[in-house]
Amino acid sequence: MGSADGFRNSGQTQILAWEGTLFVTNGENDVFAIDVDTGEILWRHRGAPDGGEIINGGQIFTPFWTRPIALKPGTMGGANWPPSSYDRNTGLLYVCASDRISAFRVNEDLEQPGPNQVYMGGRFTQAQADDRGIFAALDVRSNRIAWRQQWREICYSGSVMTAGGVVFVGRSDGRLTALDSRNGRLLWEFMTDAGVNTTVTTFEHEGEQRVVVHAERGAEIYAQVCVACHGPAGDGGHGGGPSLIDGLDAATIEGVSATVLNTMPGFGAIYSAQSLRDVTSYVLERLAER
Ligand code: HEC
Repeated sequence: MGSADGFRNSGQTQILAWEGTLFVTNGENDVFAIDVDTGEILWRHRGAPDGGEIINGGQIFTPFWTRPIALKPGTMGGANWPPSSYDRNTGLLYVCASDRISAFRVNEDLEQPGPNQVYMGGRFTQAQADDRGIFAALDVRSNRIAWRQQWREICYSGSVMTAGGVVFVGRSDGRLTALDSRNGRLLWEFMTDAGVNTTVTTFEHEGEQRVVVHAERGAEIYAQVCVACHGPAGDGGHGGGPSLIDGLDAATIEGVSATVLNTMPGFGAIYSAQSLRDVTSYVLERLAER
């Protein structure tokens, strides 16, 4: 929600109008819900809690230099790409988020980048702390949490809300779960045996409601860590990672994934050899052959 530093809205986050309410953020990470007709502030979420102290001039992160500083949410933490779903009848928004910590530091030798060169100037690594997933129902009218679950693994599938009061959410441990949207209680679950990291599709076929979901080994790790730098199609991303789909072999991909290579962090300490083989197969079989 941040809209850069400074007190005023810098325009980095859009003002949102919805059913007679304006949602506005400012540079201190406060969020306001304002009645369109009266201008009355319906609620305000403060970046710093009441009575709390604003540190770092109201910026959300502790500045770091050559000593690594752990920050939360980490690079892949918070309510990231997984889509949220919304129930028009109850006003509940279902948010899938990850509680992850990363460590950041700048490079000691700050050399001048040459023309057309990717320059990161720093590093981030996954901190040695357990990741957790959060799946929460948020009442957008009151800004209160109606219910919330904490998982041992990150939440990465996003959710789908149905008119029948069922919310579907996938789990990285392979389960597709159907929850009662009012309280989050489990209605049923189905074990797919591979991480479910995408939203379900639900449709009617011959008078029956069906649910389809995609689950795949390796896809999960790719989506969690590699995608930021190597892009969703594997042909390069904004983190400066090169293309992975131009004739690399399995040994190269597996080997590089495990160790640090210049600005690319190593993942050998975080993932098992089997997981790195899974992500390698994903790159070769799903991305390179597309
Ligand atoms: C922080 C960004 C970042 C992340 C995250 C990242 N990479 Fe990289 N990757 C890079 C960069 C930058 C290079 C180029 C390094 C160099 O050669 O200097 C690279 C290089 C590679 C190479 C070698 C490519 C070649 O042509 O030899 C492979 C393979 C690779 N990455 C796979 C992965 C996989 C698999 C993941 C996820 C487990 C991953 N990377 C995560 C940034 C990243």
